[in-house]
Amino acid sequence: MPYQLTEEQIMLRDMVRKLAQNEIAPRAAEIDRTHRFPRENIEKLAELGLMGVPVPEEWGGAGCDFLSYIITIEEVSRACASTGVILAVHTSLGCFSILYFGTEEQKRRYLPKLAGGQWLGAFALTEANAGSDPANLSTSARLAGDYYIVNGSKMFITSGGHADVYVTFVRTAPGKGYKGITCLLVDRDTPGFSIGKIEEKMGLHGDPTTELIFENARVPKENLLGVEGEGFKVAMALLDGGRIGIGAQALGIAQAAFDVALSYAKQRVQFGRPIAEFQAIQFMLADMATRIDAARLLVYRAARLKDMGLPYTKEASMAKLYATDTAMQVTTDAVQILGGYGYCKEYPVERYMRDAKITQIYEGTNQIQRLVIAKQLLKQ
Ligand code: CAA
Repeated sequence: MPYQLTEEQIMLRDMVRKLAQNEIAPRAAEIDRTHRFPRENIEKLAELGLMGVPVPEEWGGAGCDFLSYIITIEEVSRACASTGVILAVHTSLGCFSILYFGTEEQKRRYLPKLAGGQWLGAFALTEANAGSDPANLSTSARLAGDYYIVNGSKMFITSGGHADVYVTFVRTAPGKGYKGITCLLVDRDTPGFSIGKIEEKMGLHGDPTTELIFENARVPKENLLGVEGEGFKVAMALLDGGRIGIGAQALGIAQAAFDVALSYAKQRVQFGRPIAEFQAIQFMLADMATRIDAARLLVYRAARLKDMGLPYTKEASMAKLYATDTAMQVTTDAVQILGGYGYCKEYPVERYMRDAKITQIYEGTNQIQRLVIAKQLLKQ
């Protein structure tokens, strides 16, 4: 069996693939062009129970393993990378934050709605001056009676304005570095909380990326997630899983680009024969396929380690690093194989190339992934 998937994983993959190719892919170019939120895609995923694939059934999820969720992200992203990242952030960083660190009451309040897809989750760590170095974040929170009073702003927040709950990292103890960071669950309708600027981006046009503004925002103290002062470790632990999800998103984009390039190369005739008969093109296709295969093995291995309860920090970063570099390389080569057509919007490969770029940047740049990998190697 390729990649040693179980029968259940293959059935889920085939079901998601059919949905993605029949319903999500046909809308992807229009969503990219009009920059609109793919609400109907999210509703369709919710209808099929795919907004909480790895969330246990008792909390309203599908109760599948993490690898099944990773395969879901891959197939959705193969059709529409914007929908892929909305789903990935919602699940890996939204649902899992509460599943892993929430109280029973928080789980009861949020998880069934998140896993059922009625609510969408977002993750608010990054700030204008704290991107790769989130230990330096400055959005402040002080406890006053029954509320945390939050002031500051967040930047580059996926699903900003569309999410219902924002897993937000704030500074509760100035001057204490990462030990002064706390995680709060901020509901969309929190007084003093608003959505700021919407970024104009190179790609992922269906996935809104916004600023969040906190002006004396009043967050109930029962919305503290985990322990005060331990928010940084919450963020790091969540990002370990999140990075496998971004690896899967990149894998989906790379596979989509390869499929178009292969089929085009077999049909496009130049110098009297299909360009696939030229060795220059064959070598490109061979390299693309080899990289995609290696990326898939790394992404699935990291997911399996997580499913087995084994350490996976290093393997998650390796998977994210390799799969996202692969997506950039493969999409660029796909544009090259399609030539002038590849550079035009008539074919989807220029969109894949624009969408691929961000996967090397978010959830930790690939330079940060190398730091994480090296740190783990030196620790061993
Ligand atoms: N799990 C649990 N704890 C961890 C951990 C992990 N993976 N990694 C580190 N920690 C703990 C450490 O053990 C340490 O605690 P102790 O002192 O008690 O041992 C503490 O956290 C601090 O660790 P470091 O000294 O290693 O922290 P650092 O400040 O040097 O940062 C870093 C390390 C890897 C560079 C980290 O800052 C990082 O990951 N940066 C990138 C940020 C990032 O990925 N942002 C993504 C934003 S979200 C997003 O992009 C979502 C989206 O929209 C798509």
